[in-house]
Amino acid sequence: MTIVEERPAIDAGTLVSAELRETIAADVRAKYDHIPEDLAYRGVGQMPAFVAASATSEKPLSPSPLVDDFWHAFVLRTKAYADFCQETFGKFVHHQPGFLDREEHGGGKGLRARTVDAIQAAGYAVDLYWTQYPDHGPGAEVLGAAEKASVLELGCGTGGNLAHLATLGHRAVGVDISPVQLDAARERWGDLPGLELHQRGALDFTSETAERFDAVYSVFGAIWFTDPDQMLPAIRQVLRPGGVLAFSQRPAVEGCYGCQASYINQADAPNPLVVRRWDYTPDMWTDRLKQHGFRYALANEVTPPDGWKTGTLLVRALAPGA
Ligand SMILES: C[S@@+](CC[C@H](N)C(=O)[O-])C[C@H]1O[C@@H](n2cnc3c(N)ncnc32)[C@H](O)[C@@H]1O
Repeated sequence: MTIVEERPAIDAGTLVSAELRETIAADVRAKYDHIPEDLAYRGVGQMPAFVAASATSEKPLSPSPLVDDFWHAFVLRTKAYADFCQETFGKFVHHQPGFLDREEHGGGKGLRARTVDAIQAAGYAVDLYWTQYPDHGPGAEVLGAAEKASVLELGCGTGGNLAHLATLGHRAVGVDISPVQLDAARERWGDLPGLELHQRGALDFTSETAERFDAVYSVFGAIWFTDPDQMLPAIRQVLRPGGVLAFSQRPAVEGCYGCQASYINQADAPNPLVVRRWDYTPDMWTDRLKQHGFRYALANEVTPPDGWKTGTLLVRALAPGA
């Protein structure tokens, strides 16, 4: 079933009072001292969206480990949790621990996709993720966007990150070369105020637009799949002086730098799809950014969650000026 989202997405953190959010965040941080304040703020903001989605979903959902920690903390404050459920959903939303059968509910990826879909269908925005792991790593603060900034995502896919930025009040412009991805983004986000989508290649869009953005970003998106010697100058052209460029991708495999190609077999086509991407070490990225006139270039690997091997390369720099 396809669910068309016509209501603007809501920041789920607003479902819970500021005082209660602080209490839950403090409970979690007292138990897990490795959770910094900003991550606690995000966790406590996302958790009510998960509870809201669970209240309406007919199928079981699975929270990310971070959201689960915040849900536990909330459930332990039994009166506040029961009141919240009754006032917000008109019923109690139970926490049922245990593993869901893989055959019946799909693996971790399938469950995660179902959960994100259910959160969005319930009308809530999911957070901005830079990594391949849910609720992991930094969020929208990387963009350093002031209130009502204009941001451009290159290779926005189905638009979840962009929708989050629009929900925060920014003008959020997304570009993707794939009509399939953009159809899905339009269907999911409908007329979310502040969100604008363009089906275009990243180089074409950046060379054609007259708009100047406060931030340009890409999450495993077009910046990874475009020659940086073409992409970086094009991004400089569309960034305001001092604007932020940020992007994430998988870290390079040792010794495999520059343009890399993969053949991807497709179920319904006789020939594999050839995908080119550009991989560099963090130092190579910062050198390249400096060569193209960017300032304060930083590139770091975000470590993966416990039990996972591959981290995420996160790169950030500023356009000159201002
Ligand atoms: C791995 S997906 C990531 C999508 C999204 N950023 C996310 O995090 O879910 C890569 C996206 O980049 C888009 N893309 C790849 N090359 C592009 C290009 N040159 N211009 C615009 N979009 C591009 C693809 O169509 C795809 O939607």
